[in-house]
Amino acid sequence: METENHPLLEVSHLKKYFQTKNKSVIKAVDDVSFTISQGETLGLVGESGCGKTTCGRTCIGLYPKTDGQVLYRGKDVHAIGERQRKAFTKQVQVIFQDPYSSLDPKMRVQDIVAEGILSHNLAPDRAARQEMVATLLEQVGLRQEHATRYVHEFSGGQRQRIGIARALAVDPEFILCDEPISALDVSIQAQIVNLLQQLQEQRGLTYLFIAHDLAMVRHISNRVAVMYLGRLVELSETEELYSHPAHPYTQALLAAIPIADPLAERQRQRQILAGEAILQARGEGCVFAGRCPRATQRCRQETPSVRQVAPHHFVACHLYD
Ligand SMILES: Nc1ncnc2c1ncn2[C@@H]1O[C@H](COP(=O)(O)OP(=O)(O)O)[C@@H](O)[C@H]1O
Ligand SMILES: [Mg+2]
Repeated sequence: METENHPLLEVSHLKKYFQTKNKSVIKAVDDVSFTISQGETLGLVGESGCGKTTCGRTCIGLYPKTDGQVLYRGKDVHAIGERQRKAFTKQVQVIFQDPYSSLDPKMRVQDIVAEGILSHNLAPDRAARQEMVATLLEQVGLRQEHATRYVHEFSGGQRQRIGIARALAVDPEFILCDEPISALDVSIQAQIVNLLQQLQEQRGLTYLFIAHDLAMVRHISNRVAVMYLGRLVELSETEELYSHPAHPYTQALLAAIPIADPLAERQRQRQILAGEAILQARGEGCVFAGRCPRATQRCRQETPSVRQVAPHHFVACHLYD
């Protein structure tokens, strides 16, 4: 949605469709464009099932694309050859949503953290490797002695610290943070966000930070992209987005903070189911028209293009013609 001078990641008209068993097509990512500059954090926000994980993974070449283009340092990530792939996986890492399922509970911490060090040959011998693991553990707020313990001995927050140490082990420059705090207790979430921010400052890291609500990304993001049913509906610098949300969906998301009560949670679950059906059946028109309080006939018939409503603030909505 935006052109920068030297973006690290440049996503243009990216599409990722899935074929279901009954031959219908799920448009999980549909014509999505954005850039991320070096050292920046872009927040990517939207309800469960809207395509955030698919978008993140397609952007770093973990999923093949359906259409469009993703450039990392000017190179097409879907055209990386076998030999260059290894160098690319050292530059780009992932921190996963659920530190319970993404880390094998029966493994020792040192073996998890050392995986990348081993596969990329980053330490000359065992002692050097152990030294690197010890340093990494300290950098993520764990202790050296934790290295020989098993993952199942740790709490959710500590496990996510282990997941962060694993990602940092290869000294990457870009990290896809896929809902890294969503599975954690609210009391732990801020600690992990602060840690990620501190590591970013120390190492000049660039983040694509995915979350399902706007409250979680405000603190860490320079800019925020809002996704709804496979499409980006708004993209803006963080404070501008929270003070002047332009898209009716962003406005609804902001009004919904916090979304902690059980009734709202049940409604949210229902919306996810409805969302999947819409992802399959969708034709022309705005993806949000069915839920939008301000939708007109035109919104149901014509897909809105992206408009700029303020400096660095973009919205895909017919209201801004
Ligand atoms: N591997 C897959 N095969 C088929 N459909 C998928 C696959 N991964 C995701 N989807 C579908 O794509 C949509 C977006 O999913 P996802 O990217 O996981 O959303 P989010 O991360 O925002 O919750 C959902 O409808 C989901 O069911
Ligand atoms: Mg996801």
